[in-house]
Amino acid sequence: MDAPFIRIKGLTKHYQMGGQVVRALDGVDLDIEAHTFTVVMGPSGSGKSTLLYLLGGLDRATSGEILVDGQRLDQMDENALALFRRRTMGFVFQSFNLIPSMTALENVSFPMQFAGMNATQRGKQAGGLLEQVGLGNRADHRPTELSGGQQQRVAIARALVNNPSLILADEPTGNLDTSSGAAIMQLLSDLHRSGRTVLVVTHDPRMIRFATHKIYLLDGRVVSEAEYQSAALETARDIQGE
Ligand SMILES: Nc1ncnc2c1ncn2[C@@H]1O[C@H](COP(=O)(O)OP(=O)(O)O)[C@@H](O)[C@H]1O
Ligand SMILES: [Mg+2]
Repeated sequence: MDAPFIRIKGLTKHYQMGGQVVRALDGVDLDIEAHTFTVVMGPSGSGKSTLLYLLGGLDRATSGEILVDGQRLDQMDENALALFRRRTMGFVFQSFNLIPSMTALENVSFPMQFAGMNATQRGKQAGGLLEQVGLGNRADHRPTELSGGQQQRVAIARALVNNPSLILADEPTGNLDTSSGAAIMQLLSDLHRSGRTVLVVTHDPRMIRFATHKIYLLDGRVVSEAEYQSAALETARDIQGE
């Protein structure tokens, strides 16, 4: 049988903090099929960002295997990893990470220079991507001249630059009000329906309704939904009992 689009085996990430070892990820096994919309839920500190960064090749694991689209990320050198990342993945972050001095169009076209396009081609394609996220009329605005929801749309347009098959988003609605957050979720859902594999980490339960698959993280481990819910109940009781 073919391997799934993403296969993670025995993944650990340990940090040395003073005399203590922090087990940010503590033996994670995961299979994720192509064209799914996976939501990774977990409380703050459960290892969500760590998982996403390792999966995206932005950081190295302590041990374990990461297979994406048939390629072992954990066995690639830095150059191969950078190339693979650029071709295969688009990243969306909670804090948008736009370049403040650049317009929306420039923010989107900037990463295209690495793909060997000339300025005219870049402008045209970036304009098209901004249209796609509903911001065709804001191309000349700088980030400070855009709402949070609009900035996140620009960041999503930028993530689409190399037509990635995998979109990774780290709490993409974390800095947004309810209605712009919902619009961003809808946009990510549209990307999923257009054929991409989308993986979103969040502690926002409203994300769940867009998911085809759900993964629950507690203390660096994948747990069942039942375990996750009962841990959440215990936490609520502890808080009430204080
Ligand atoms: N660079 C780091 N150095 C030390 N500890 C870290 C580092 N990054 C994350 N951690 C720890 O790893 C755990 C998981 O962090 P993280 O993946 O950011 O969680 P989440 O995104 O779910 O809030 C936390 O206990 C956090 O404090
Ligand atoms: Mg995080």
